[in-house]
Amino acid sequence: MTDIAALTRELFAQLDAACDEAAVEQVRLNALGKKGSVSELLKGMGAMSPKERQTFGPLIHGLKQSISDAIAAKKDLLAEATLNARLLAERVDVTLPSRPEQRGRIHPIMQVFEEVQTIFADMGFSIAEGPDVEDDFHNFTALNFPPKHPARDMHDTFFFEEKEDGSRMLLRTHTSPVQVRTMLSEKPPIRIVAPGRTYRCDSDQTHTPMFHQIEGLVIENGVHMGHLKGVLMEFIRAFFELDDIDVRLRPHHFPFTEPSAEMDVRCDRSGGALKIGTGADWLEILGCGMVHPNVLRACGMDPDVHQGFAFGMGIDRLAMLKYGIPDLRDMFTSDVRWLKHYGFEPMVQPNLATGLS
Ligand code: PHE
Repeated sequence: MTDIAALTRELFAQLDAACDEAAVEQVRLNALGKKGSVSELLKGMGAMSPKERQTFGPLIHGLKQSISDAIAAKKDLLAEATLNARLLAERVDVTLPSRPEQRGRIHPIMQVFEEVQTIFADMGFSIAEGPDVEDDFHNFTALNFPPKHPARDMHDTFFFEEKEDGSRMLLRTHTSPVQVRTMLSEKPPIRIVAPGRTYRCDSDQTHTPMFHQIEGLVIENGVHMGHLKGVLMEFIRAFFELDDIDVRLRPHHFPFTEPSAEMDVRCDRSGGALKIGTGADWLEILGCGMVHPNVLRACGMDPDVHQGFAFGMGIDRLAMLKYGIPDLRDMFTSDVRWLKHYGFEPMVQPNLATGLS
């Protein structure tokens, strides 16, 4: 008969000496595996006399229990030690300062889009969008450009290949098709601004084939040119962050508005630099007017019931004016040195409470 006391000492000594999880597993196999010493003792109990079993049974079961408890405890201990070692090795010092230099910058055009939208949102406008690839109906016909009318040529349109039915898709030449899409899908009162990219086949110091506009549309009973002028003056005052701003509406022509006007702001060109707000000169900054009855009709509205006004302006121009950017083309060269100079901090959102820029 095995000396149970000696076996107990031996197994516990083995367990004491085991210093990693594999060694502990080996002790477990030595004791409790199929051919383990404790398993053999348990098997041997079958051949014992009842008296022997009464004496040795509790001892053998006691050993089985105590050694398996000890093994489990040691495994837990080792697992915890492994985890602690790993936590120590993978430690991150969250109190370290963040990297000093932020690389990314917000492009001035995106900054100005944000600023303009913030101002109009504050006046109760919501944002509308339309596709860059348009059809003739939304870009021209519904906006009261009759087929073959010379006004279409003024837009230097980029056309796609003719389709089988003879129609051609195009890159929108202005954001005004979003007026049409909004009137067709929404019921008055309507108050939207539509920012986006626009395209014309034109390129020189003040024109790029792709540029940005924001469109405004209000359809509400009883609105008139006075409201239009008020909204635009409020916008210009907020955008240029000037209390006193002098503007004038100059008669103009657009097929989709009647009457139509361009709005100029007072500026000063003396001394080479352009200054907005005071001076003897005027600078044109946007087109606007009352929505033409034919446009209302094309969008399923009755001009005797609904009136509205619309305006559209070039975002790139506004960005150049506000931030003193001399050449339009530099905006699109993706030169990081330029962006570093003219770009904006990414984490600072323009808002009316703390200032727009
Ligand atoms: N769509 C015109 C343009 O691109 C601007 C405009 C919009 C004028 C709305 C009047 C009303 O020049």
